[in-house]
Amino acid sequence: MDRTSEIELRSGSRMPVMGLGTWQLRDDTVQAVETALQLGYRLIDTSGDYGTQQGIGEGIRRSGLERADIFLVTKVEETDNAYEATRKNLDELQLDHADLVLIHRPPRTGSGESLWRGLLQAKNEGLATDIGVSNYTIELIDELTNATGEAPVVNQIEWSPFGHSEAMLREATRRGIAIQAYSPLTRSRRLDDDTLSHIATRYGKTPAQLVIRWNLQRGTIPLPKANQASHMEENLDVFDFAIDETDMRQLNMLNQHYSSLGTLAYL
Ligand SMILES: NC(=O)c1ccc[n+]([C@@H]2O[C@H](COP(=O)([O-])OP(=O)(O)OC[C@H]3O[C@@H](n4cnc5c(N)ncnc54)[C@H](OP(=O)(O)O)[C@@H]3O)[C@@H](O)[C@H]2O)c1
Repeated sequence: MDRTSEIELRSGSRMPVMGLGTWQLRDDTVQAVETALQLGYRLIDTSGDYGTQQGIGEGIRRSGLERADIFLVTKVEETDNAYEATRKNLDELQLDHADLVLIHRPPRTGSGESLWRGLLQAKNEGLATDIGVSNYTIELIDELTNATGEAPVVNQIEWSPFGHSEAMLREATRRGIAIQAYSPLTRSRRLDDDTLSHIATRYGKTPAQLVIRWNLQRGTIPLPKANQASHMEENLDVFDFAIDETDMRQLNMLNQHYSSLGTLAYL
């Protein structure tokens, strides 16, 4: 595995094994995205409500990379008309399609069937290559799938050694749904954990790098956000070591269903 590695989604599309988060990207989004792409990031995660889409589109154009070499993920809100919101997102990005469009979170009631039908329309028209969900439980995914006949290819959820779920990973994998790990660095809140630091030091890596590598070895797709170029670079430098089985087990056991945002929405 290296920084160009990809996984195959159930649809047959290929998705990079990690990406850059852009929520609360400060300063100059254009420059940050251009830098990330120069460093080797190929998946960029955004949303209609992050306020970063214009800058991301511009950063992509300035990078000089082919559109086909970039995997762009965006999201529609649960109160949106999903089809119209996808069009609006693409207008802001100034792109003709997104690689993946997600329902940001389930609506207050139900599984979001009409949102999903809007995304299916966007997909049929080529505005989205693939579609998925975020913050969904397995029960809601099954409800959505049963109602519409089409399962999401991705569930994007909060995921770190301190907050994850074996059952979610097992059930998602069984359904051919890839897990994208958001807030993988616990928004920096648990990076000073003793066990994490101790194991990281043994590999000559930082706690952030250890957590990213833990994701890669579990087949979950980490989306660390970084404003600072030094962080972006550090977070990509995770392909020259492997965490052994004992340490993977120990990292798994740090699980306390911790959430840096309040609760793990998918439990
Ligand atoms: N679907 C959803 O509902 C949802 C919810 C939350 C997040 N997300 C997505 O997931 C992405 C990541 O989650 P997140 O932004 O909440 O948090 P995160 O990636 O866990 O943490 C970001 C924080 O970690 C810092 N950081 C980055 N690399 C570091 C390193 N190597 N060492 C120490 N600190 C480091 C960043 O600092 P600097 O910025 O200063 O470099 C930033 O303060 C988001 O940006 C967004 O794209 C999705």
